[in-house]
Amino acid sequence: MKEIEQARVQLRARFDKLNDDDKRTILRAPELRDLFAMIGSIEPASKAQFGQNINKLKQDVAGWVDDYESAAESRQLKPIDITAPWDINTASDKRPASLPAAYGSQHPLTKEMQIISDIYLRMGFEVHQSREIDNEFNMFTSLNFPQDHPARDDYDTFVTKDGYIAPAHTSTMQHRIISGSRAKLEKGLPIAAIVPDRVFRNEDVDATHEHTFYQIEGIYVDKGANVGHLIATLKTYMSEYYGQELNVKIQPFYFPFTEPSFEFAIERPARLKKDDTEEQKWLELGGCGMIHPNVLKQAGVDPSIYTGFAWGFGIERMVMMKYSIEDIRHFMSGKLNFLRQF
Ligand code: DAH
Repeated sequence: MKEIEQARVQLRARFDKLNDDDKRTILRAPELRDLFAMIGSIEPASKAQFGQNINKLKQDVAGWVDDYESAAESRQLKPIDITAPWDINTASDKRPASLPAAYGSQHPLTKEMQIISDIYLRMGFEVHQSREIDNEFNMFTSLNFPQDHPARDDYDTFVTKDGYIAPAHTSTMQHRIISGSRAKLEKGLPIAAIVPDRVFRNEDVDATHEHTFYQIEGIYVDKGANVGHLIATLKTYMSEYYGQELNVKIQPFYFPFTEPSFEFAIERPARLKKDDTEEQKWLELGGCGMIHPNVLKQAGVDPSIYTGFAWGFGIERMVMMKYSIEDIRHFMSGKLNFLRQF
């Protein structure tokens, strides 16, 4: 039976050399196969004993594997640190090199929206959230869009079968905010609110257009509010956000919910101008204007006593200009190379 003892020594040496994940392959080792193949040629008197000894060896080898695996399991039972970066609980030799080993971070838009909100909070504005699903009344009717008016086409977005809308602008919050805060006006306080949040559009996506993006809506209602206040408010905000005075340009435009209505643009700093054309000179951020009397009336505010102004700007555009980001699609791309820069 010395063949069996020799095989045991060889198997143990082979087993010790196997990698952790391959230990189980010892059960198919050639030494064991060869021993079983020898049974046929053993003389009858010793055959039974030989067979028993091989089976014993095979059981012992299976025991080595079981012992090894249960020891490995208890070695791994260390407490998991749930506050750690997500891959730190993986043993370092098992961590693929491509996994991020660093801490996560806030998305740049989340960070910027906090910075923007802080500026407006210091200017006395409340911060509200928008909705990701809203109805036709808030999105259009309360904002003085007549039924079937072509102006609705500019806000083409996603609609559910039962008529709910993924809002195409943060103006969808105007009615709620004005009607919800009108008691302030009676106390002699202004309504001053911003809504930085996500909006959706049926859009041809390119370097400056996304189907899902962020806007900031601003609303101010008080006795005597006028266009001068609107422009001063926006200019104050712009110089806080960019840390420098910027030239701004407003030009007449049309929105159903403001009268007069304007387009609002800021002058690009020299480093961001590709050439000297008017188009390169100005970056259009969005619209603004004096809140239409019908919008105030619908929200229960008397337009013969109070006036208001409002604006709605694209947040990505403001952030892109601040950091010289060339393509709006980076924000939602999930590209770590992009995100890690913030
Ligand atoms: N909601 C408009 C848009 O998305 C932007 C806008 C224009 C908002 C004028 C306003 C406003 O509050 O007064 O195109």
